[in-house]
Amino acid sequence: MSAWIEGRVAGCRQWTQSLYSLQVDAPALTFTAGQFARLALPAPPGSKEAMIGRPYSFVNPPSAQPHEFYFIILPEGPLSPRLAVLKRGESVWLAPRANGFFSISETAEAESLWCLSTGTGIGPFLSMLRTDDPWVKFRRVVLVHSVRYAEELTYRDAIAGIGHARTGAFHYVPMVSREADRDALAGRIPQAIEDGRLEGRVGLSLTPENAHAMLCGNPAMVEDVQKVLATRGMRRHRRKEPGHITLETYW
Ligand SMILES: Cc1cc2nc3c(=O)[nH]c(=O)nc-3n(C[C@H](O)[C@H](O)[C@H](O)COP(=O)(O)OP(=O)(O)OC[C@H]3O[C@@H](n4cnc5c(N)ncnc54)[C@H](O)[C@@H]3O)c2cc1C
Ligand SMILES: NC(=O)c1ccc[n+]([C@@H]2O[C@H](COP(=O)([O-])OP(=O)(O)OC[C@H]3O[C@@H](n4cnc5c(N)ncnc54)[C@H](OP(=O)(O)O)[C@@H]3O)[C@@H](O)[C@H]2O)c1
Repeated sequence: MSAWIEGRVAGCRQWTQSLYSLQVDAPALTFTAGQFARLALPAPPGSKEAMIGRPYSFVNPPSAQPHEFYFIILPEGPLSPRLAVLKRGESVWLAPRANGFFSISETAEAESLWCLSTGTGIGPFLSMLRTDDPWVKFRRVVLVHSVRYAEELTYRDAIAGIGHARTGAFHYVPMVSREADRDALAGRIPQAIEDGRLEGRVGLSLTPENAHAMLCGNPAMVEDVQKVLATRGMRRHRRKEPGHITLETYW
């Protein structure tokens, strides 16, 4: 099998100066919601490798094409600025298989699922929450999107669609840390758990008895949230040793 399959850019959306979504036609590539693809472009001449590839979570549910990826443009990064200037019809390469274990099948049984994300880490949750799997397994689902500025609270239409489809079972909590926002909680996720504001907002408790937490995005957030949840007796979930926390770090 060849190392890469060729996809075509089907569309794009720029949300802010640095946040971008890319739609890619690559029907041969299948995945489980929560997994990531590896996107690649040819490396500059003289590079050691022929291609520069990076992992990106699927945002679309597996039942919908084209594939969609949501990313931040890191101006010094070798790949993200190049992905952001691709035009409709241009080629982008993908690894032939999706990867990752950040999926609903890898969570423990619980009453409620807490999806805690920073920045672009909301992507895999948008994929998972647009399948039936979480709604069959959990009675309630909370999606927290924690960003620096209110304009980074993206995908509001997709989130509203999930709310309409799952009335009464879905709670969306926006958080903004670097400016005041009327609808969002202020500050960071770990503090909002510690001081009870997050549970107060949704009216559910986040405890080992009733919750499973999935964490995605900034590795410092993932670490700090695990520390707070550990004080409540919550620990990493593993197949051989069931727990309460599943995680994906982006760097
Ligand atoms: C499993 C997995 C899934 C990923 N999915 C996504 C995704 O869906 N969307 C996405 O934007 N990125 C995602 N990433 C990160 C992505 O693979 C790239 O690292 C990122 O796009 C930057 O690529 P680059 O070549 O421009 O710079 P790199 O050289 O790869 O990164 C430069 C630096 O930027 C920072 N950084 C990397 N990614 C992010 C990020 N997402 N947000 C903030 N800072 C970051 C880190 O400090 C990193 O060292 C994922 C990473 C992993 C491991
Ligand atoms: N967002 C932008 O405008 C922007 C633009 C260009 C480039 N970048 C670069 O992109 C990278 C990341 O940007 P980003 O804004 O997507 O992601 P981010 O830095 O991960 O910030 C997203 C949210 O996570 C919070 N956070 C950070 N550390 C945390 C921790 N230990 N525990 C809990 N929450 C934590 C942030 O709070 P705080 O605000 O309190 O840190 C913010 O609310 C950085 O390298 C940045 O320089 C960002």
